[in-house]
Amino acid sequence: MPNAVLLAEDRQTLASRLAEARAKTDEIFSILKPEALYERPIPERHRLVFYLGHVEAFDWNLIVRQTFGIDSFHSTFDKLFAFGIDPIGGGLPNEPASDWPDADAVRSYNARVRGLVDDCVQGACAPRHGSDLETIFNMAIEHRLMHAETLAYLIHQLRYESKIQPSNEPGARPAGRPGRAAGAAGGPAGMAGSPKAVGIPAGIATLGRGRQERVFGWDNEFERMSVHVPEFLIEAHKVSNGRFLEFVRDGGYEDRRHWSDASWEWRRREDIRHPSFWHERDGEWSYRGMFALIPLPMDAPVYVSHAEASAFARWEGRSLPTEPQFHRAAYGAPDGSEREYPWGDDAPMKSRGNFDLRLWDPTPVGAYPRGDSAFGVSELVGNGWEWTSTVFGPFPGFRPHPLYEGYSANFFDGAHFVQKGGSPRTAACMLRRSFRNWFQPHYSYVYAGFRLVGP
Ligand SMILES: [Fe+2]
Repeated sequence: MPNAVLLAEDRQTLASRLAEARAKTDEIFSILKPEALYERPIPERHRLVFYLGHVEAFDWNLIVRQTFGIDSFHSTFDKLFAFGIDPIGGGLPNEPASDWPDADAVRSYNARVRGLVDDCVQGACAPRHGSDLETIFNMAIEHRLMHAETLAYLIHQLRYESKIQPSNEPGARPAGRPGRAAGAAGGPAGMAGSPKAVGIPAGIATLGRGRQERVFGWDNEFERMSVHVPEFLIEAHKVSNGRFLEFVRDGGYEDRRHWSDASWEWRRREDIRHPSFWHERDGEWSYRGMFALIPLPMDAPVYVSHAEASAFARWEGRSLPTEPQFHRAAYGAPDGSEREYPWGDDAPMKSRGNFDLRLWDPTPVGAYPRGDSAFGVSELVGNGWEWTSTVFGPFPGFRPHPLYEGYSANFFDGAHFVQKGGSPRTAACMLRRSFRNWFQPHYSYVYAGFRLVGP
């Protein structure tokens, strides 16, 4: 139901959430040295300066232009910064940095857009008839917060000399206890072959949301869908770096049998021999943290592509969970009820997991027992997205949002897999049960890992 009229308190809530989200994107740009703004840390993505303009141009297009019908003051920038998924047209982008505008020009465009967006939030302009303002402002806020996370992946790949570590940064400490062997303390990292598994009884998993619930969600979160899930076994913890190292040492990357045709071709072409966040020198493994190279934290979750997670699963004779299995383990309960979060219905707090943009790097698996699900499965939300074996697609009753038609529909191509949960850089509002993330199987820069199901 469109909500064209916002109450004053709704306006204040939206204004303060928007201000917080802007603080998060401002923070991520503040860790860049000025010249780094023109770098392209990942070959298939834009130079970073694009994103500086993009988060504002998106708000301009969605809110100011499309919803409030206000004329453009800078149509060149509106277009230049409009599209952010991947540079279009096949092949890798190769335009020179000098093609991009000066950072000061982008910043003054941004300041002007913010002022106009604020006028719209505060009710100073009249929206077009039938506009659902609550949905539109939520789209702007979450779009911005998603970029706060994806910018962290991009900037993670930059040389350390290009970054300035925030002085109040608690993540300066090493992620996990470096150098410890996998499961050496009998801890949650576990030994390969004997990770702790939890039996989940057969039951119903509810995916998605009904439109009548009046809770904000992206188009792919609707409608509600109930799935019967047969009983299964799922690991209590995410797969750790230490456990994944056994796969590497066993020659898992060189053994054709563990890989699909497409993934083997990718692995061979790119000469991939270990997770992209790892670094090897003279047999010593390190972890490329956000601000420093540290000894590989064996008990932190491994972050890998879907292809690498699937190869590991095949090596162990197990599988990645399906999206409904993940839901069942995370949100189901022995009494047959379902929860909004693994720990219950309380809003996300920092004691429940590593999420909401507090740390820049993962913590040891199992470090947040207060985030366990009703079945006792650990950390299904936070500390790294989790890959599922489910191909991203619409739920029955899907309708694209008319102001952002391609948000999901452009990716219903059978070539993207669903991720669930959330990473250290995922904002709390996107930890809701129905939220779905998706990536293609060879994209290895995301803070995403996995756990296994099966015998
Ligand atoms: Fe975007």
